[in-house]
Amino acid sequence: MTAIVNLNAREILDSRGNPTVEVAVTTQSHFTATASVPSGASTGSFEACELRDNDKSRFCGKGVLKAVQNIKTKIAPQLLGMDVCEQEAIDALLLSLDGTENKSNLGANATLAVSIACARAAAQATGLSLYRYLGGSSAKVLPVPFLNIMNGGQHADNGLDIQEFMIVPHGAKSFKEALQMGVEVYHALKKQLTTSRYRTAVGDEGGFAPDLSNHKECLDLILAAVEVAGYKPRTEISLALDVAATELYSESKYHLKGEKRTLSSDEMVSYLGELVNQYPIISIEDGLSENDWQGFKKLTKELGEKVQIIGDDLFVTNTKRLIQGVQKKVANSILIKPNQIGTVSETIKCILQAHRSGYKTMISHRSGETEDTFIADLAVAFSSGQIKTGAPARTDRAAKYNQLLRIEEELGKLACFGSF
Ligand code: PGA
Ligand code: ZN
Repeated sequence: MTAIVNLNAREILDSRGNPTVEVAVTTQSHFTATASVPSGASTGSFEACELRDNDKSRFCGKGVLKAVQNIKTKIAPQLLGMDVCEQEAIDALLLSLDGTENKSNLGANATLAVSIACARAAAQATGLSLYRYLGGSSAKVLPVPFLNIMNGGQHADNGLDIQEFMIVPHGAKSFKEALQMGVEVYHALKKQLTTSRYRTAVGDEGGFAPDLSNHKECLDLILAAVEVAGYKPRTEISLALDVAATELYSESKYHLKGEKRTLSSDEMVSYLGELVNQYPIISIEDGLSENDWQGFKKLTKELGEKVQIIGDDLFVTNTKRLIQGVQKKVANSILIKPNQIGTVSETIKCILQAHRSGYKTMISHRSGETEDTFIADLAVAFSSGQIKTGAPARTDRAAKYNQLLRIEEELGKLACFGSF
């Protein structure tokens, strides 16, 4: 038994300069562990509630003092004295103190920060690395990184409708090699953009955000960078998209402003099929809107055999929504974002349910991030095999990749690299 002796919380900043929650948990073994939570921009409407103050006199209403106060006055008194290693009991207590379906009472930003800080403190108290503490002896698979090197949609102010263009260095033998491949392509792309007189300013996730108005031009530039860096498209490095199509959907249509096209759900499925036929795309996330289950089903039927179809806004790391998807044969993979659901235990439950259902999992950051590297350990703990955490640039993104380098080194000969 390692009792929690202190629980503190504060407002800090995320990578976009918005307030977020940080928690520090101290145990009787005198360890203090901190954790901080990220924040999305293209959020799904079924996500757990991120509690903001809405007090326009500070941080444009984005302050999180209410969430911080909830931790100090409502959560801390109940948690003190509990065994920090009882993660499920801690998370069950957070759920019962909140008492709502979507954590709108305490805020999922409050509950998740506490939950992760406790997991980290427990790992320290037991002398284990976090991935090992969470996942046990089977935790040894390093994820294939999905590096987002071109940003569009809500993450950039250019004309690209699709939010994320990722490279997937699955031909590598190790995570370290995969990361190096990704970095080399990233820099080759930067050179190419400079030569073509495009701007090389980056978007929220560290990928470039040039003023391209056309998806195919973007994909061509990326493929050329892969080749310039000395890699073979499809066998060594493939491409992946996060369309974030919920953001493009209104009045039953997909409005692709950059492409100057308005598409029905069926036409959107055909459009994505066209991209898959022309480019080495192996994974498409949120190709359709969170409410377009029919469209998602059609996309899965038409492309699901050869492409990974991921639900992000569609499933929001929610086991109930995932089970509906499995029953309806919608998508074949799920994006896992701990702050969409609000506790470590619920996140783990969702990952395990997905694997039991034959769905793949990809662990993910948010577009607003902090220096917290929990998702890197989470990916290894549960053999997810895939992670997306932005470009290999900007410390908020590189921090997660760097943590995976440390984990791979620590595992040594035991480490395996996820396959795709
Ligand atoms: P978000 O974007 O964090 O802004 O939601 C990431 C994603 O859509 O996967
Ligand atoms: Zn997404």
